[in-house]
Amino acid sequence: MGLFTKDIKTMDDLFVHTLRDIYYAEQQIEKNLPKMAEKATNTELKQGFEMHLEETRGHIERLEQVFEMHGVKAKAVRCPAIDGILEEANEIAGDVADEQVLDAALIAAAQAVEHYEITRYGTLVEWAKKLGRTDCASVLEKNLKEEVATDKKLTGLAERKINLLAAE
Ligand SMILES: [Fe+2]
Ligand SMILES: [Fe+2]
Repeated sequence: MGLFTKDIKTMDDLFVHTLRDIYYAEQQIEKNLPKMAEKATNTELKQGFEMHLEETRGHIERLEQVFEMHGVKAKAVRCPAIDGILEEANEIAGDVADEQVLDAALIAAAQAVEHYEITRYGTLVEWAKKLGRTDCASVLEKNLKEEVATDKKLTGLAERKINLLAAE
């Protein structure tokens, strides 16, 4: 859906478009998390990525639920923002030689992903409420909460361990 095609006319259209954007993003994240888990050296980080992979699959299912509740087709729309974030993550991971520095780079990349998801879900929850879809909002809020929790865990891990080890 191009910016100038004027396919988005109403708030509802914009809501559906953004749902499709995050649906695409979650699918790309699902593809990338196993690679990140494989590259991580720290066990806690590795397990964290594996756990979030499971959660991400749940996010995709919840999104499909929201599409159904809203009576629209579950369709992904390419999201250049998440493509860029993931491309950068892969590039930086390929460039870091030291294992502990690589873990620090992986955490930073993962947090960029989480923050993207948080901004999208934060917006979607608010828009759903404004559109009178509190039912959709509460499902989307579950995804939002898990993204926030993941982001916090990553911050904790970085501050407690990874950054210290990487700086040695
Ligand atoms: Fe997610
Ligand atoms: Fe996430």
